[in-house]
Amino acid sequence: MTPAPSTDTILQFDDVALGYGDFTVLSGISIEARKGQVVALMGGSGSGKTTLLRAATAQIVAQRGRVAVFGQDIARLSGEALRQLRQRMGVLFQQGALFTDLNVFENVAFPLREHTRISENQIHERVLEKLDAVGLKAAAHLRISEISGGMARRVALARAIVLEPELILYDEPFAGLDPISLGITAQLIRNLTDKLGCASVLITHDVAESFGIADQVYMVGQGKLIAQGSPAELSASQDSYVRQFLDGKPDGPIAFHYPVSPAYTRWLEQRKGRRS
Ligand SMILES: Nc1ncnc2c1ncn2[C@@H]1O[C@H](COP(=O)(O)OP(=O)(O)OP(=O)(O)O)[C@@H](O)[C@H]1O
Ligand SMILES: [Mg+2]
Repeated sequence: MTPAPSTDTILQFDDVALGYGDFTVLSGISIEARKGQVVALMGGSGSGKTTLLRAATAQIVAQRGRVAVFGQDIARLSGEALRQLRQRMGVLFQQGALFTDLNVFENVAFPLREHTRISENQIHERVLEKLDAVGLKAAAHLRISEISGGMARRVALARAIVLEPELILYDEPFAGLDPISLGITAQLIRNLTDKLGCASVLITHDVAESFGIADQVYMVGQGKLIAQGSPAELSASQDSYVRQFLDGKPDGPIAFHYPVSPAYTRWLEQRKGRRS
């Protein structure tokens, strides 16, 4: 039995299974993010973290179980109701595409122009405030082709938070950042969560940085939820999966190699036919 959700629950997965077509990536997933919490989602590459994020934004539908955002079952929403719900969420996608024909300022201003009727003055203030928070105020005028990969990541982050949403989902926000930007970004996520009272879901491989700011950590692997708890609880865990992940050991239950599937074997057979 899952405990009844508190009124502070912003995001809840209840015994959820997720995948693509016949392929199930994760099952038996029950997780929760509450108001004011930073929740870290961790797990090896290909374990299903981005898939969890896609379920939270209703880009994919759960194969079983229930995904609720702001207390609403998202499988039941569509059209305008879903659009309104998504407006209350900020998402930093792993492959966070910026609009290459807009400059830095206009990329961050985009959600404000789309979803609000605030004045040009207010847009100016808000966008520069968010760019300042990611250290890029003076890059506002640059074209996307003129900024570096790490800068693009920070612009995408500013865009994800510009509407000051109640739920923010960050998929690998630290990827490509130097150690200084990384530390500042982690602190930004924590401060924003405290200031806005929102819930933040942080998908990351970075153990040290995420444990420094998270209230709750969920670890996925082997198709299921492997561990959950506070950073202190996980740090003390003796579970072999948790230990391998936290200590970065090459040997253990987490496989480095993507598993061989019937589809791969068929593809290889076809190639063999073509080569002989
Ligand atoms: N659109 C898709 N169609 C089919 N399979 C997919 C799709 N997207 C992802 N997968 C598969 O789902 C599994 C989980 O992928 P996912 O992107 O959720 O992993 P991840 O934990 O985010 O990995 P990483 O840390 O590398 O970003 C992988 O086996 C992947 O091949
Ligand atoms: Mg991913």
